[in-house]
Amino acid sequence: MPSNLVLLLFCVFVRLSFTESTKYLPTWDSLDTRPLPKWYDEAKIGIFLHWGVFSVPSFGSEWFWQDWKVNSSSYVDYVEDNYPPGFTYQEFAKDFTAEFFNASEWAEIFKESGAKYVVLTSKHHEGFTLWPSRYSYSWNAKDIGPRRDIIDELSIAVRKENLEFGLYHSLYEWFNPMYLSDKRNKFHTQEFVSKKILPEMRELLLNYEPSILWSDGDWEASDTYWKSTEFLAWVYNDSPVKDHIVVNDRWGIDIPCKHGDFFTCSDRYNPGTLQKKKWENAMTIDKVSWGFRRNAKLSDYFTTHELLVTLAGTVSCGGNLLMNIGPTKDGIIAPIFQDRLRDLGKWLKINGEAIYKSTPWTHQNDTLTPGVWYTARENAIYAIVLFWPEDNVLKLESVAQLCASNETSIRVLGNEGKLKWSLIDDEYVQIKFPDKAKTLSENAWVLKFVGT
Ligand SMILES: *[C@@H]1O[C@H](CO)[C@@H](O)[C@H](O)[C@H]1NC(C)=O
Ligand SMILES: *[C@@H]1O[C@H](CO)[C@@H](O)[C@H](O)[C@H]1NC(C)=O
Ligand SMILES: *[C@@H]1O[C@H](CO)[C@@H](O)[C@H](O)[C@H]1NC(C)=O
Ligand SMILES: *[C@@H]1O[C@H](CO)[C@@H](O)[C@H](O)[C@H]1NC(C)=O
Repeated sequence: MPSNLVLLLFCVFVRLSFTESTKYLPTWDSLDTRPLPKWYDEAKIGIFLHWGVFSVPSFGSEWFWQDWKVNSSSYVDYVEDNYPPGFTYQEFAKDFTAEFFNASEWAEIFKESGAKYVVLTSKHHEGFTLWPSRYSYSWNAKDIGPRRDIIDELSIAVRKENLEFGLYHSLYEWFNPMYLSDKRNKFHTQEFVSKKILPEMRELLLNYEPSILWSDGDWEASDTYWKSTEFLAWVYNDSPVKDHIVVNDRWGIDIPCKHGDFFTCSDRYNPGTLQKKKWENAMTIDKVSWGFRRNAKLSDYFTTHELLVTLAGTVSCGGNLLMNIGPTKDGIIAPIFQDRLRDLGKWLKINGEAIYKSTPWTHQNDTLTPGVWYTARENAIYAIVLFWPEDNVLKLESVAQLCASNETSIRVLGNEGKLKWSLIDDEYVQIKFPDKAKTLSENAWVLKFVGT
């Protein structure tokens, strides 16, 4: 054997045994030492999809079943008025037809939006799985409704567009008898976790190798009940996605905002200040619901400007934005959602360099002028300006020091040429916006500062 080869084998052996010895333990102390896979922080924007049997009534919200069963009057009336006596929620499943569902079309829409990842509800609190799970007999998209493996189709199409594919998964299931039995036992028994949840999550990771596992429905029981640390140790040490996957923080009572690869804390979390830990703002374009609602009003949808305000504040403070849309039961992404996504994509084509791969700067928003958020990337500073300044003149205080050198150049992204600016009293910078930049957007403009 040539000695070089011996050396190489030795190195491989040492490397393997080193990897072996750095296994994560099933404790938060150990799991929390895992470095965040780089792709996630760089991506900044994802699309969240809430799709399931709740998309059939598409009334109220994706909590339809629960709200109906606790006798919330609008839901009780809706069912009484529109369905025969004795109608059950399970009967909605056959109308989850998905006949227009074309995964490639969806993936093209997502790509066009400028998002870098997609997160689909593999199973919401109703327990219906969008894949043919061995652990969800007859209550899955292959046995009833679409009669297709939705996760398989969408994961392939999304990856073809070079986007990362992630899965949302609800730990609890409102009406699963096994869960309700554990709950009656004050969670001293773990039959539901051992026989349903853990096997099901392993099945998901082994079959579909998601880049994100977005856990939810954790809040009634502890992480001990859910065996969260044991499961995550397997995810980080031995699963097929151990080096690439990221998980959120919803793994049991008191765990959100404390543990996980990134924090989601609460729905629509958007602290407005710089956070130490990577976080995500999971919000929904329909302000009222995550699932599709036929009874939504136009004013219930965020405008493109409102979405850009949210994006700027989120990314400047170190967060990712996970923007939700609810597809219809027949597999359509409603034109109102397409419109918002397309607008965002158009804006990002011009201004994406201030967003993707950016890092938070010394200041998050300007200390003088509201509606201006900063990011940094390589040797540039970006100011995302969420309005067109009065008389074309913008005053910024936070960049005064940066502009102490007269060599600093300021441009509007998408517009040729340097802007005229002056430092006033060493206190703030006065920047003249060129008229022709106004046509670049109806919503927000980005200034790029390059110093010497
Ligand atoms: C809802 O109403 C039904 C019928 O009156 C009743 O049997 C059930 O206990 C009620 N459920 C709740 C959670 O109040
Ligand atoms: C799905 O959409 C793609 C891309 O728009 C198109 O090329 C393809 O023909 C469609 N497939 C079906 C079955 O309609
Ligand atoms: C900057 O953002 C913080 C937190 O969102 C807010 O309290 C503050 O008023 C903002 N500053 C200006 C000048 O708008
Ligand atoms: C920048 O300032 C320096 C020193 O204050 C001065 O010598 C130089 O001429 C200035 N350059 C420009 C382009 O104004």
